[in-house]
Amino acid sequence: MVCRTPSLERATRENAVNGHKDTGPDRSLAAELEESRRRWLESGIPIPEALLVTGSGLSLDLGEPAAGPWPFSDLFPFEVEAIEGHAVTAELVRTGNGRLVLYSRGRLHAYQGYTPAQVVYLVRLSALLGARSLVVTNAAGSLRADLPPGSIVAIADHINLTGLNPLRGRLPAAWGPQFPDLADAYDPGLRRRFADLGTQAGIPVGEGVYAGLLGPSFETPAEIRAYRTLGADLVGMSTVLEVIAARHMGLRALGFSLVTNMGVGLVDEAVDHQDVLRIGGRASGGVARLISDLFADEAFWNVESS
Ligand code: HPA
Repeated sequence: MVCRTPSLERATRENAVNGHKDTGPDRSLAAELEESRRRWLESGIPIPEALLVTGSGLSLDLGEPAAGPWPFSDLFPFEVEAIEGHAVTAELVRTGNGRLVLYSRGRLHAYQGYTPAQVVYLVRLSALLGARSLVVTNAAGSLRADLPPGSIVAIADHINLTGLNPLRGRLPAAWGPQFPDLADAYDPGLRRRFADLGTQAGIPVGEGVYAGLLGPSFETPAEIRAYRTLGADLVGMSTVLEVIAARHMGLRALGFSLVTNMGVGLVDEAVDHQDVLRIGGRASGGVARLISDLFADEAFWNVESS
């Protein structure tokens, strides 16, 4: 354990003022992350080359365990609550071709009360350790009839509708520019590779724009119509903060959604969180195949950031 705040509630309240977690006036976010990095290096745990974050209902078998799993609460200097009885964990995995991936089974969401800095803590720690790529998956509602439940959709771009941004406040200049360019935030080369791997494996991969919402309520039908007009193909409650933080620190990002339902009002059925988890679990075979093919592909590791 590094240093815990007494309660998430308190951290959240103070975060609203400070822009990052409550650690008292003399311990900034940068100092916290530096300490997490130092502890990682001192413990002799190898450095991950990529961070993989999988969302609702997905839990993949990616290769040989190399270290961990660690509950987030052991990795982070703030309280992390179990979700539905399961601790959120990360572990270091060695892929078949010997690459080290830090695999986060689940993530923290802003709708749970975590601050943007907490939501992206592992992204930043990975970047500071030297990782070069972020791969994220999420569960999403579809706004397009040609992307029905069960579809795998590469994220081409996003619309951040959370009202949040992890770059708000004063961050160390060494982390990246204050006003990072988010054109091609979702790396075009990696997207092409991912689509090719889908074709080779016979797994159709769509492409779409992801609207990131705060949640946790699902959308109203009017909101869904509005987001469609705005240019969104998918709606979800994660990913955008992580990708902003990753791009800020120079990581390449690849994201894809697993469509678990049609957007509210587009079909007669109600959206249900249990359905989201169930369909996420059912489509996990295709996603597991695509991710392991991606990591087995030397081109993934060698492509330069665009
Ligand atoms: N809306 C928002 N987030 C979601 C949805 C949805 O319909 N499905 C899965 N995550």
